[in-house]
Amino acid sequence: MNTQKLKFNKLYINGEWISAFSRETFDVINPGTGNVITGVPNAGEIEAEMAIDAASKAFPEWSEKTAQERFDLLYKWFQLIIENKEEIATILTEEQGKPYSEAIGEVHYAASFVSWYAEEGKRIYGETIPASSREKRILVIKQPIGVVAAITPWNFPAAMFTKKIATALAAGCTTVIKPAEVTPLTALKLVKLAEEAGIPAGVINAITGNPKIIGQTWLKDKRVSKITFTGSTAVGKELMRGAADTVKKVSLELGGHAPVIVCADANLDKAVEGVILSKFRNGGQTCVCANRIYVENSIMPIFIDKLRNEVEKLKVGIGNQSDAKIGPLINQAAYTKVQRHVEDAVAKGAKVVCGGKRVEEYQGGYFYEPTILSNINNEMIIMSEETFGPVAPIVGFDDIDDAIKQANDTDYGLAAYAFTENLKSTIKLYEKLEYGIVGINDGLVSLAQAPFGGIKQSGIGREGGHQGLEEYLETKYVSIGI
Ligand code: SIN
Repeated sequence: MNTQKLKFNKLYINGEWISAFSRETFDVINPGTGNVITGVPNAGEIEAEMAIDAASKAFPEWSEKTAQERFDLLYKWFQLIIENKEEIATILTEEQGKPYSEAIGEVHYAASFVSWYAEEGKRIYGETIPASSREKRILVIKQPIGVVAAITPWNFPAAMFTKKIATALAAGCTTVIKPAEVTPLTALKLVKLAEEAGIPAGVINAITGNPKIIGQTWLKDKRVSKITFTGSTAVGKELMRGAADTVKKVSLELGGHAPVIVCADANLDKAVEGVILSKFRNGGQTCVCANRIYVENSIMPIFIDKLRNEVEKLKVGIGNQSDAKIGPLINQAAYTKVQRHVEDAVAKGAKVVCGGKRVEEYQGGYFYEPTILSNINNEMIIMSEETFGPVAPIVGFDDIDDAIKQANDTDYGLAAYAFTENLKSTIKLYEKLEYGIVGINDGLVSLAQAPFGGIKQSGIGREGGHQGLEEYLETKYVSIGI
């Protein structure tokens, strides 16, 4: 990427692209090569407050626009994202590492939130309720919640950004945003396109910098009505505590530890394809990715064989190599965690079916071989901690009720998957699995029109679908005496 051409590696506040007051910057690193891409401003409290000032000032006018006016601007933004998809995907691959073809897929996924919510914003309906007397009328209206603070993650720098911002804007809210420190450039490019689409100054304000200081500033400010966050459960809990002081609404999309249950009556080719999608998309760095694969013992050898055949075809490489299917892990800490999970499992008796070590070919980055482990037991940390890497641990089961019990034995509750051709088992699985999302014979469940989110310690609230829009709206009950 020619960094000279980057016109958007700045803070965007009140319609202006500015540096941090301190003039400090921090580096954005390509995780595939270890090279510095560019620097971005290291903003702190002053800039975080300026962003709230701008968003508060812009709120009255934005919230009073008609749904059609907001649609026109959001739809223009959608068109610009599609027109610029190659450039966005190039930035995304460079700063996040995922293969370019996956980055293009993510840009389409990101754009789908903008077009879907542009439309859905026209359907913010109220209600009338029969009153208890002839002298009264009861109405329920929906109004935008106000200024929304969004903290977006590094694993889907485009899609998780639009998922929050397009929804907030469609609801009539204005926004302050902090993209992940390691992948801010994709988000800033999307902001640049929003500016070109004519979204007015102050409606979107994006800053890069110290996450703790920025987060604290937004949490304590009464003018921020809602915090939306995608990331780890630990940080989600901190934000929730911080939001309590000013009783802000929170939406949290947190960690997961997805089980996959493969029954003996499954279509095995479909099951292998689903496991590959769920486990190895984004190199295993998704909140919904398979972390425990329960396979009925009678099909274990054949399933492992088929899976290994497919996993061994997954070419590891730097994201811009055309045949790369698995990119690097995001940083050294992510690599160390994956390595720790595998070493711990092997020390406790796991067998490495394939993979299990660093890819030596690319010394500059953090590449780990796509790995299958068998002989797994519940003492291994991989069975309780989210791995966030390309490692598939396989566990046997004999009885579906026991598999469901084991699958539910976790504090997480984001996504679960099951493969079966049996109708009774299908119903039992989707009814009994304690997860916000269940994929049956489907390893890729993410869509703009569906409510995505977790139960238990995997989060609060939903993103996507008409349910996602509700998270940015207040319900007002109006009683009129006549
Ligand atoms: C996530 O990993 O946080 C989201 C993944 C998705 O939208 O599919």
